[in-house]
Amino acid sequence: MFDLNIWVGMKAAGKPIVALIAYDFQMTMVLNSADIDMILVGDSLGMVVLGHPDTTRVRVKDICHHVKAVSNAHPRIPIVADMPFLSFGVTIRDTIRNAKKLIAAGAQAVKLEGGSRIACDIAALLENGIPVIGHLGLTPQSILRLGRYQVMGKTSKEARRLVQDAKLLDGLGVSAIVLESIPEKLGAEITRSVKTPTIGIGAGRETDGQILVINDLLGMSDPALPRPRFVHRFAEIYDAMLAGVNSYSQAVRTREFPASSQVYFPDKKEKK
Ligand code: KIV
Repeated sequence: MFDLNIWVGMKAAGKPIVALIAYDFQMTMVLNSADIDMILVGDSLGMVVLGHPDTTRVRVKDICHHVKAVSNAHPRIPIVADMPFLSFGVTIRDTIRNAKKLIAAGAQAVKLEGGSRIACDIAALLENGIPVIGHLGLTPQSILRLGRYQVMGKTSKEARRLVQDAKLLDGLGVSAIVLESIPEKLGAEITRSVKTPTIGIGAGRETDGQILVINDLLGMSDPALPRPRFVHRFAEIYDAMLAGVNSYSQAVRTREFPASSQVYFPDKKEKK
């Protein structure tokens, strides 16, 4: 059992919340030895793991598959599962049915992108005992409508709407609100306006916590590729991975691998 109120306590104590997006068993085993507070199985898996151009093709069963992989590592911290594009916001019955699948796969809470438009979905999930994480600012599932990823809340009208949405989610009783790609000043204002912990990704330094995709922070993609301003590579794994694969390739071509220490021999004591 997990107490999601722990994040509220951290907000009250001014202790930053450390959240990570991860998708599989092996990464979660690493996280089990680290000091973090939340694992999100995000729908960014569509791009990061499945190679889709955006998150709109991700299905509930994709997220379930990865929630199971993450939960097989028995993390000591809550697993949050993203509700994919159109798995909510259509009918309340579908929203609850889809969220139930994610909980059955091993998640302790679900995350939904959006504000007032999906307030009824969020209220219904909470009424039915499913903890919810909100997601405001840039909502990547809106990419087909937006046309490009952009910083949101730059005009005072947009900023006001986001503050209102955050207050609405706060009033509904969500367990945390992810704020993505908004100006730092707005991230700070929203954080001050709500009792719910805010978790920023490109939302500045004053949110209650931060979240990044583990593959991004470990530097697993080609460093030459463009990346959002908010991504900081805390390690450079890509170069190490490429070097490892090249060493393997060379060793196979030169027949240095396998060496005698990597091969099996028959039992010497076998009677003739
Ligand atoms: O799927 C994801 O990676 C996310 C983050 C942007 C918070 O939802």
